Amino acid sequence: MKTAAVKPAFNVDELRAQFPILKELVHGKPLVYFDNAATSQKPRRVIKAESAYYATINANVHRGVHTLSTKATEAQEAAREIVRKHINAKHAHEIIFTSGTTAGINLAAASLGQLLLKKGDEVVISGMEHHSNIVPWQLACERHGATLKVIPITDSGEWDLKQVPFSGKTRILAISHVSNTLGTINPVKKLIAQAKKQGIVTVVDGAQAIAHLNVNVQDLGCDLYAFSGHKAYGPTGIGVLYGRDELLERMPPWQGGGEMIDTVTLIQSTWAKLPFKFEAGTPNIAGIIGLGKAIRWMEDYDKAVMARHEHALLQHATKELLAIDGLRIIGTAKEKVGVISFVIDPSSASGSGVHHYDLGTLLDQQGIAVRTGHHCTQPLMDRFGVSGTTRVSFACFNSMEEVDTMVAALKKAIKMLR
Ligand SMILES: Cc1ncc(COP(=O)(O)O)c(C=O)c1O
Repeated sequence: MKTAAVKPAFNVDELRAQFPILKELVHGKPLVYFDNAATSQKPRRVIKAESAYYATINANVHRGVHTLSTKATEAQEAAREIVRKHINAKHAHEIIFTSGTTAGINLAAASLGQLLLKKGDEVVISGMEHHSNIVPWQLACERHGATLKVIPITDSGEWDLKQVPFSGKTRILAISHVSNTLGTINPVKKLIAQAKKQGIVTVVDGAQAIAHLNVNVQDLGCDLYAFSGHKAYGPTGIGVLYGRDELLERMPPWQGGGEMIDTVTLIQSTWAKLPFKFEAGTPNIAGIIGLGKAIRWMEDYDKAVMARHEHALLQHATKELLAIDGLRIIGTAKEKVGVISFVIDPSSASGSGVHHYDLGTLLDQQGIAVRTGHHCTQPLMDRFGVSGTTRVSFACFNSMEEVDTMVAALKKAIKMLR
């Protein structure tokens, strides 16, 4: 009988030792990397896998009979199976490799738009979406004469479930699993169930969920689920669009070219089987292999234990930050991943606030990487009446000491700027 592999105990120092970049100095200071929601750092195993591919088996996939092409194809398809298992998709052909979440959602919007939308139809998104889950739907609506409807956001940064604008005309629901700006973990399963009862096709932007939550697409019940490799310890330029196969079969291709066809004449073409119908052109083979390694790396640990560590960082940082005069956290949902967005309002003592860009620059001087600005969520900034925020976002390799370093640096920066 096969026994389950024992996962190593969670040890942040052991984990950190696997990330070469964490040894870098920035402005002569040890790097504190708190910009994981933008892109996470990569463990050595992922970096090595990409260069090993180029050094030993580089060849184009699915098109050759020679040994290297066969090896590259096998490595790519092995990674597809790793992804399938990780998100509990039913079939490997439901895993489409894309260049990232943005590409996955553009594919979904263009193809579903063509399949489902006509004049007068409606697409529902939420008010906390990343621009990647807004603009493709605006384009699709414009193309087909449909209208975009929006779930409003509460003061704590959650969906207002009493105001979900479903109607008899709603065809598509496109929502994020986790907010990149607020950290809110959204009740996607609940809303998907509601949508399904009304025959609405559901698309989930999982960009911020994949590194922090156990994603189970069959349990969520979604039709499509998009994510990027680079936010989950994998390479940039590679992502996944999961799709339920019955729906993918009905969806028209998005891009045309090699690999996605079955036959081509000068008059017309027919399409390849899934998933290749949606994978036009030479894929990012090294990226796909790197993504497989990143997922395997995450699976070496218990995601729930990683999530507990990140939650402890979140709680500690939240407490310390709230003690700073004038600091206001935007996004206070009960269920959050390790993301904190904040602004510095005028303090009672000095009467002046601090701009996020100035803060980000001074933190960088102290070796601390945070993100400042609108985080590609301008409508959400408008909702909260701010032009931008400072955002810290944690990964499993971050430590409590780093949180303390950041808080001390922040206090120093605020003092200089007020
Ligand atoms: C919630 C969310 N959706 C979509 C994206 C777009 O991801 P990518 O730039 O990897 O395509 C991001 C990236 O920040 C994100 O946070």
